[in-house]
Amino acid sequence: MKFFLDTANVDEIKRINELGLVDGVTTNPTIISKEGRDFEEVIKEICSIVDGPVSAEVISLEAEGMVKEARVLAKWASNVVVKVPMTEEGLKAVNILSKEGIKTNVTLIFTVAQGLMAAKAGATFVSPFLGRLEDIGTDSLALIKKLRKVLDFYGYKSEIIAASVRGLKHVEDVAEVGAHITTIPGSLFPKLWSHPLTNSGIEQFLSDWESFKNK
Ligand code: E4P
Repeated sequence: MKFFLDTANVDEIKRINELGLVDGVTTNPTIISKEGRDFEEVIKEICSIVDGPVSAEVISLEAEGMVKEARVLAKWASNVVVKVPMTEEGLKAVNILSKEGIKTNVTLIFTVAQGLMAAKAGATFVSPFLGRLEDIGTDSLALIKKLRKVLDFYGYKSEIIAASVRGLKHVEDVAEVGAHITTIPGSLFPKLWSHPLTNSGIEQFLSDWESFKNK
């Protein structure tokens, strides 16, 4: 399974990248705004740290504007993926961009139909949102499971990025139901390798070792 980092914080990215766990990065305008840095500067820096795909989102709502922005974003680095919202105009833009060889990540997907449309339009990645669906009481795991089944059934190459991930259970669950990728907030990532019993076990081993040495 591939892990993306859902952050634009370069310190978080560097720390986790050193563990060999980062296959890519996703950002959105909210994530970028939290860093208070220039969009182009931060995306270029992330692209220089991480080898894999780095999603940078367009702001335009019309296909023409999205395509124009996308062509600029795609020139910032070879691993930039253009994030496009799941709308009619977004699909139109994805169709044009895929023919130009520009990689896209269709975001804000909440149904299997939306995921299927994005894949058919030529999206490289499709991003169903788990947490936001659960906020309105909808089963998000079923969405990932069904979408994976449908994409595989028809042989679409688009990869599913499980997004809007809020906890460790989400990561374990989407791995089980076949998301190709999960994008994980920087603050959540350390919880994937930590457990209180691991920590107390280390403490006990070391204290037993000290007692034994000092006998
Ligand atoms: C990533 O591609 C999404 O933009 C992000 O996971 C959204 O997360 P949120 O719903 O917690 O804002």
